[in-house]
Amino acid sequence: MRTDTAPTIYRHDYQPYAYRVKSTRLCFELDENVTTVVSTLDIERTGTTPVPLILNGEHLELISIEVNGSPLSENDYRLDTETLTLFPESTSFSLQITNRCKPIDNSSLMGLYVSGKSLFTQCEAEGFRRITWFPDRPDVMSRFTVTLRADAKRYPLLLSNGNLISQTDLANGRHEAVWEDPHPKPCYLFALVAGDFDCRETRIKTAEGREALLQVYCDKGDLGKTAWALQCLERSVRWDEQRFGLPLDLDRFMIVAARDFNMGAMENKGLNVFNSAYVLADPDTATDASYEAIESVIGHEYFHNWTGNRVTCRDWFQLSLKEGLTVFRDQEFSADMMAASLPEKEAVSARAVKRIDDVVALRTAQFPEDAGPMAHPIRPESYQEIGNFYTATVYEKGAEVIRMQHTLLGEEGFQAGMQTYFRRHDGQAVTCDDFVDAMDTVYRARNPGKDMSVFRRWYSQAGTPRVNVSINHDAANQSCSITLSQRCEPVGVEKRRNPPVEKPPLHIPFALGLLSPEGTPIPLQNGSDTTDTLVLDLTEHTQSWTFKNVPGRPVPSLLRHFSAPVIVEYDYRNDELALLARFDTDPFARWEAGQELATRYLLAQVSENITNNAPELALLVETWQTLASDDTLSAAYLARALVLPSERILLEKCKPADPQAIVAARNALRAELGIALQDIWQSHYQNLSETLNKSSYAPNPLQAGQRALRNCALSYLVTGQPQKYLDLAVKQYEGATNMTERMGSLSTIVHQDSVQTIQKALASFYSRYENNPLVIDRWFALQATAASTDVDTVRSLMTHPAFTMRNPNRARALLFQFCLNNLKGVHSQAGYAFWAEQVLALDAINPEIAARLARAFDNWRRFAPAYRDAIETALKKIQAHPTLSRNVSEIINKALE
Ligand code: ARG
Ligand code: ZN
Repeated sequence: MRTDTAPTIYRHDYQPYAYRVKSTRLCFELDENVTTVVSTLDIERTGTTPVPLILNGEHLELISIEVNGSPLSENDYRLDTETLTLFPESTSFSLQITNRCKPIDNSSLMGLYVSGKSLFTQCEAEGFRRITWFPDRPDVMSRFTVTLRADAKRYPLLLSNGNLISQTDLANGRHEAVWEDPHPKPCYLFALVAGDFDCRETRIKTAEGREALLQVYCDKGDLGKTAWALQCLERSVRWDEQRFGLPLDLDRFMIVAARDFNMGAMENKGLNVFNSAYVLADPDTATDASYEAIESVIGHEYFHNWTGNRVTCRDWFQLSLKEGLTVFRDQEFSADMMAASLPEKEAVSARAVKRIDDVVALRTAQFPEDAGPMAHPIRPESYQEIGNFYTATVYEKGAEVIRMQHTLLGEEGFQAGMQTYFRRHDGQAVTCDDFVDAMDTVYRARNPGKDMSVFRRWYSQAGTPRVNVSINHDAANQSCSITLSQRCEPVGVEKRRNPPVEKPPLHIPFALGLLSPEGTPIPLQNGSDTTDTLVLDLTEHTQSWTFKNVPGRPVPSLLRHFSAPVIVEYDYRNDELALLARFDTDPFARWEAGQELATRYLLAQVSENITNNAPELALLVETWQTLASDDTLSAAYLARALVLPSERILLEKCKPADPQAIVAARNALRAELGIALQDIWQSHYQNLSETLNKSSYAPNPLQAGQRALRNCALSYLVTGQPQKYLDLAVKQYEGATNMTERMGSLSTIVHQDSVQTIQKALASFYSRYENNPLVIDRWFALQATAASTDVDTVRSLMTHPAFTMRNPNRARALLFQFCLNNLKGVHSQAGYAFWAEQVLALDAINPEIAARLARAFDNWRRFAPAYRDAIETALKKIQAHPTLSRNVSEIINKALE
């Protein structure tokens, strides 16, 4: 907690560390109240002249320091609140530090902390310094040997990275385990876990012929919910072998589920620690979406073993080096898993469904971030608190930047680039430039005269570029020219720069198709071949391309499969959008066209929006009807195509942003479509119910798509005619055989206004799942986002015995869901005041979590005046608080700058 302004750290100030830590021996006397750590470091200076040795450490109690076995006196070192400085004369020496920390008091969940009855660590980014003094930076890599000692009854399992070397019983009911990690690593990849767990395991033989043990640990009693996680882990190993040629390099790979966890999961070498929400699943308690999320997070952490651990980051500015790349890999893993489980015809649309979901996530979280006060390049230039830069930009936009390189190089070229990257950098801590260098080597070899120098600007430029499209059709010559122009407005701090920042053009792979006015694909010349989709290399501000044999004025299908993270501007006529929604052969662009049509209609309903291109309701109904009755489309795809753009996505496009008007317009259109297409919804509902009843529950993409569409149909029916269809929702709820059905009906029910039905359903849900924390999180989240929920409702939910701010999942379920996703409930003076109060309350417990909530109204300057003033007042109230964490103060100061 601090009142002064935290220093800003700049990427350009990077200096290599002056010492090597050749080996690290840690010995823990574990105890939840006071843990003692003895750290023995084998240190060697890299340069010729003596320099101070600076170690990071926070919230630690120093017991003693010895150099080469002799104790230091207080005059031999300097101890500050965040560092310990020594002044060694010799070039190599052994340093032993003994210190204590207090796990039970650690509510930040960084460093060593207590969750339930167990002990866990979280070290990325800068948590290791809460365990012992150490050069806590990713470019200092060391070989770790770890001894864990603890009470044998309370902590029968003692886990750390690498291989278990020995296990010994000690006096006084204590025991000891020694772990050795053969791979040198930065301290952010260190982990320990101590507790009493159940374990599900399997032995596999890797492609290289190595025997490996895969294990999933969970709280006692949860073993029945770990089968899926273990399957996902094994599939991840296989996929990385097959698609990337990257083998498991360990004898043992462990995943441990923790109830209290700040993020999704953590890739500690050989000992991944997971938020239990991304491990535990069975049909009765997990939805299809949670099964899918578990697969993706398990993949993500496993893939870090190469992209993150074998090759790590030089400094935290390079975070996207591992995160962007690993998100790209987990997205591809999920897409491949989905496609593999479906017949070929469905496989194409399964990939499109995954792409749609990823793009929706990008637009919901990253586009607003890139337009607001926290805008930063995927490789940030500066930060005050690195914990604030685990962002949608670094992760999701970072993955898009990798995906574009994949598009430019093709699968084979990309894999060749990956091989080059590992050949050059295995075992090192490197930069984003090193990664692009490897890709560029392959790119230049395959594209004589070209290179990736323009492409690299994606790493240093913030903001979502806009690509404006214009078309010129020459009827006489039957030719058509397409002109693309790109621009990227100043964002965040750039807005205040004088002179204004130069934003040079980026290299944008822009996938294009053309449809005839009747909706048939027009073949495009590509060298000596023709193709439906051409990827244009836009590298300048403005470029044109001419296509021959285009008889009529075509309808362009733009940015197919979302080939770049940009916003496309093209003045479609509404009937052209309807045509694309019907006929486009690219499933992503087809989905996009329908969404754009609905967006135009909805924005026109928000009075202050100036629109002259709103479609008639009839055109929208007709388009939805055509989509809904197209039996060539998979259920999963239809469930995406028929859902209206979310409130948050609409809010982003609404100028000025008017949240209450958006909510009202969207609900009204849902009701209209519910009534107008009643017969179609009913028949989907019936048919899907019959199909689903024929087989038992499996979390596969086929069934998941069917359940999603069935829930979508139910929601339209109930929204359109609650009196007529609420009973259907209740019936589905009561007869539900899995959580997806149960949640689908319950969320429809709570959005209506029949209080009795709602209360009855919520009470029955609670008593059924009282003992399952992850499901009780759903119970809170559902109410947090329900239409009738306001600040008073949330306050009263906060007094429920099951509510606690100290568990991040619970805080996210109630507070975050209300503040971020209940636009109707939160966008009022009372809502903003409540938000400010909760940010401050959370900040006293867990700054990293508080800082995330603090970002809820980042884009407040875009709001209509009444909202804007009220948000500003709330922001200033937080800012004025005497003790803000570095995390929250960075966010709030940037928002108000
Ligand atoms: N590297 C982790 C991941 O897989 C995220 C850890 C971030 N931890 C934190 N406390 N911010 O993405
Ligand atoms: Zn990651």
